[in-house]
Amino acid sequence: MFSHSIFVNILLLVTLIECFLCQNFDFSENFSHNVTDPDEHRDVVQLIESRGFVAETHYVTTDDGYILTIHRIVNPYLKRTKRKPVMLQHGLLSSGVDWIINAPALGIEQSKAVFQNKTVSNNLGFALSLFGYDVWLTNSRGNTYGVNHTKFNPKKEDKLIRDFFYEEGGAFLPPNSVVNKLAEMVCKDFLFRDICSNLLFLIAGYDHLQLNETRLPVYIAHAPAGTSAWNLVHFMQGIVSKKFQKFDYGGIKNRLKYGTKTPPSYNLTKIDTRYIAIFHSQNDWLADPDDVQFLRDQVKGHFLLDYKVQFPKWNHIDYIWGKEAAKYVYIMILRVLEKFKFNP
Ligand SMILES: *[C@@H]1O[C@H](CO)[C@@H](O)[C@H](O)[C@H]1NC(C)=O
Ligand SMILES: *[C@@H]1O[C@H](CO)[C@@H](O)[C@H](O)[C@H]1NC(C)=O
Ligand SMILES: *[C@@H]1O[C@H](CO)[C@@H](O)[C@H](O)[C@H]1NC(C)=O
Ligand SMILES: *[C@@H]1O[C@H](CO)[C@@H](O)[C@H](O)[C@H]1NC(C)=O
Ligand SMILES: *[C@@H]1O[C@H](CO)[C@@H](O)[C@H](O)[C@H]1NC(C)=O
Ligand SMILES: *[C@@H]1O[C@H](CO)[C@@H](O)[C@H](O)[C@H]1NC(C)=O
Repeated sequence: MFSHSIFVNILLLVTLIECFLCQNFDFSENFSHNVTDPDEHRDVVQLIESRGFVAETHYVTTDDGYILTIHRIVNPYLKRTKRKPVMLQHGLLSSGVDWIINAPALGIEQSKAVFQNKTVSNNLGFALSLFGYDVWLTNSRGNTYGVNHTKFNPKKEDKLIRDFFYEEGGAFLPPNSVVNKLAEMVCKDFLFRDICSNLLFLIAGYDHLQLNETRLPVYIAHAPAGTSAWNLVHFMQGIVSKKFQKFDYGGIKNRLKYGTKTPPSYNLTKIDTRYIAIFHSQNDWLADPDDVQFLRDQVKGHFLLDYKVQFPKWNHIDYIWGKEAAKYVYIMILRVLEKFKFNP
């Protein structure tokens, strides 16, 4: 598929540029892989339980047969009734792990203290659970927790499922093998190599002020978590067409799928902004200020909250891995949710 090779080329180019940029940073601390953090090998359930919470696993089957895993964080110290549910959906190439993977601070035993003094955990999933919400971590098809299917066994019928997913919008990406090799050649330093070889950093960039370098091996062990290749192609189509529209299959298949030669745009005027809060930042490479403005221009009315993160270098990844994610973002999220805690 031509779009595939273009994508790989762009990746390689980005890698080179990124590695070049990486080398201009000077880290004083030495980075060592010697000590293995147990979080590197914990899955979502184990991470939740290791922090003293109770984990529930549920499965959702989509109309087209994918079986997606979703996890629930249960705070055993709180009554289960009357808790408002919050669904946390990860971003591109990630998984539900995002919301609980930052360094552990404020475990379950601090539940009471949290209510009394409003201290916020640096993991949004745990922060919400500590504040009494019913937290659900969802996963998109194609990531670590979204590869099962009603018709195919991903392990036994590896080739079949790959072909099937490819045809139907799946096709898992093996990006790290390619990028890793290149990163190894270009980025000599250990830390740089880890950053350079990680697809997430390639796409989203990184902010060394907010990145906890000691924790990098843990982050890298969980991300990227994979996604369907078409998902990435869809994002790229958006960049090329400058339109926020459905997947472009090409003229003939578009007609079959949508009844029109070009894919229909998402109609953003239909969104009710009164119940939506948006968070954005100056230094976000993916959701950059122009894109945020595009969104504002398209929707009708004002958002419930239109919040610019008060940290100039705040980047895309800092929302989940930022050393000060609680201070700059999660506290605001909790404040917004507080308004809906009692009346729906
Ligand atoms: C980093 O490692 C190098 C080589 O092992 C060593 O010479 C240097 O002293 C270390 N620097 C720090 C700050 O630990
Ligand atoms: C790395 O770990 C090995 C085995 O645990 C140990 O023998 C070695 O001293 C460690 N090296 C450093 C630099 O900590
Ligand atoms: C609030 O509670 C947390 C968790 O127990 C604790 O670490 C922190 O020091 C407390 N802060 C204040 C201002 O009491
Ligand atoms: C995948 O889903 C099937 C049901 O279609 C189930 O029997 C199987 O255990 C699942 N496999 C995994 C690895 O979750
Ligand atoms: C950084 O990560 C290390 C290792 O997980 C952890 O011990 C430390 O508390 C983290 N620092 C911050 C500011 O989160
Ligand atoms: C988008 O939705 C609005 C409100 O339902 C409607 O008035 C408008 O015609 C739609 N625009 C397009 C291009 O479909």
